[in-house]
Amino acid sequence: MKHPVVIGWTSALLLLAACRPSMEEAVVTSPGGQTRVQVRIQDGRPTYRVVWNGEEVVTDSELGFDLTDGPYFTEPVELTHLSFNNRSETWEQPWGEQREIGNRYREMKLRFTGGRHLTITFRVFEDGVGFRYSFPAALDSFAIAAERTRFHLPDSARAWWIAAYQNDRFEYLFNQTDLSAVGDTVHTPFTVRLASGTHLSIHEAALTDFPSATLVVPAGSTDVGIDLVPWSNGIKAYVQAPFHTPWRTIRLAADAKGLLHNYIDLNLNEPSKLGDAEWVRPGKYVGIWWAMHLGTHSWASGPTHGATTAETKRYIDFAAANGLQGVLVEGWNPGWDGQWFGGGTRFIFNQTHPDFDISEVTRYAREKGVYLIGHHETGGDTRNYEAQLDSAMAFYARHGVPVVKTGYVAHRLDGTEWHHGQYGVRHYRLVTETAAKYRIAVNIHEPIKDTGIRRTWPNEVSREGARGQEFNAWSGDGGNPVDHVAILPFTRLLAGPMDYTPGIFDLMLEAKAGPNPDRNRIHGTLARELSLYVIIHSPVQMAADLPEHYEGQPAFAFIRDVPADWETSLALEGEIGQFVTIARQDRNSEDWYVGTLSVEPRTAVVPLDFLEAGQPYQATLYRDGDRADWRTRPFDLEIETRVVQAGDTLRIPVAPGGGAAVRMVRMTMQ
Ligand code: NOJ
Repeated sequence: MKHPVVIGWTSALLLLAACRPSMEEAVVTSPGGQTRVQVRIQDGRPTYRVVWNGEEVVTDSELGFDLTDGPYFTEPVELTHLSFNNRSETWEQPWGEQREIGNRYREMKLRFTGGRHLTITFRVFEDGVGFRYSFPAALDSFAIAAERTRFHLPDSARAWWIAAYQNDRFEYLFNQTDLSAVGDTVHTPFTVRLASGTHLSIHEAALTDFPSATLVVPAGSTDVGIDLVPWSNGIKAYVQAPFHTPWRTIRLAADAKGLLHNYIDLNLNEPSKLGDAEWVRPGKYVGIWWAMHLGTHSWASGPTHGATTAETKRYIDFAAANGLQGVLVEGWNPGWDGQWFGGGTRFIFNQTHPDFDISEVTRYAREKGVYLIGHHETGGDTRNYEAQLDSAMAFYARHGVPVVKTGYVAHRLDGTEWHHGQYGVRHYRLVTETAAKYRIAVNIHEPIKDTGIRRTWPNEVSREGARGQEFNAWSGDGGNPVDHVAILPFTRLLAGPMDYTPGIFDLMLEAKAGPNPDRNRIHGTLARELSLYVIIHSPVQMAADLPEHYEGQPAFAFIRDVPADWETSLALEGEIGQFVTIARQDRNSEDWYVGTLSVEPRTAVVPLDFLEAGQPYQATLYRDGDRADWRTRPFDLEIETRVVQAGDTLRIPVAPGGGAAVRMVRMTMQ
């Protein structure tokens, strides 16, 4: 039995409301005093700075916008109204990495007049800051030419980043450089380690009807600015006031793993519009998917067509026999036959290829206690998709399909718009909202980035938004190198769940018929593939390999057992790009799971303080064998069981490019 969650306001009290001719400075600290934000107005121009644990982490930095009809808020302004507020509450996620989330902050609202007035709200948490701009109704409708917000960071720092404005969206390998050597426009979350050891990550929360913020880091500088992703005509955003921008957020932590215990982005989103969304069911799935990436089957119709009735039933049988809930089917509908780029895609979302009988496969799935996971590849042709969206979701709802994976394989949406501009943000939200009407969850590939919207729309369950497993099958540039999954937890995964699609057991891709057989492989050990089920959270979690590769494999027991929904999550160890260890408790039992992975050989040290005191647990360790090495002996895996309890420490040897997964089942005492 879990304790019931207590949700309440301990204080929602207006501390001070000031209305004076003009003020030069305003200060707000977090409830515990760890974080301090100071806004100063010099020569009529406001700047903000952030001090964390006595360290200045953001030096006086600019605020404001340029509208298309002239500067806004960059001409002299006066701070005339100031008010403060406090909040302390606990709320519950319907699914996720953490059931109960604490939300404690102090808020400062600043109203500026002179020129055209504007309100800026800061929310200051112990572990970060969020701020947003509110445009008054009097502005009516207007267009934004540029956002002026900056984050002036300390001079000496390291940064992990991927460049924005690329054809393959977020699907790039992370660079690690000095902050002053970035010299590029980068995506968020943007993770930085200061010379002091303090880690921070700049991102945004509640991205709604506005372009994504990317960050410009000029060469030779650490004064980071926001660059809003434009429409194809160069305009950044069309706004109808009154309007709040998304929150600009800065997470702060004493070390790398501290960045993972941070919920400010979720806290800055609105509560659920779907109530407790009990119809959104976390689960694991297999799919007619990897075979296409290996090239042995095709999305296109024809002799190697993957999505046939018979093949789907084979996957359904496998899922049912192994307690997996879903079966994804890609390439089931007409409209596109094998050519990814070049336009001309006209998918039809309510008709199937003749060899795929959806009524029969969904009937069969129901009989076996499994559901079908639908797929809407759009080819980036959003106009075609939007025109059919309602009927496409209705079609799946009629067939009892509760989750749809969407896809936008294209360099630009409809040939012209960035996926992450305001056009894309609007489109992706329309899909989430339409799916919700039909009680369908969405798992978005080639997505808009996650900004905590899952709190408001809990049917937006997962997404891609980084180089996933598929790059190991065909990328031709060496796949995902051995440190890729050691970087993701501290960068992309800070934004939210990822459908990485772990669990490839055929590590050397012997089933692959395509080119470059020697370069395409998984860059890690078998035990590491298992560790990803704990390290990479996704409420829809794939067992990505072909069923035949799991048959007779003792290691598959871990994939059968591991949950996709968690009561709590603890980051225990980590250095960006080197190693990470995470423990999570199952939401539906008292059992605990640990995942660890590393690039270099090491011993993961896991004190089991989180287990219930005085209570034995049966631990099963899936770890690298003594001679395992991702390059030479990736399949070398040991399965060990022992009884453990709170007070014990697990010391788990991890091979080069290796990992481990541990299941700890609470034993019932007589
Ligand atoms: C790219 C996605 O990442 C992948 O999962 C999917 O199979 C293809 N697009 C086809 O939609």
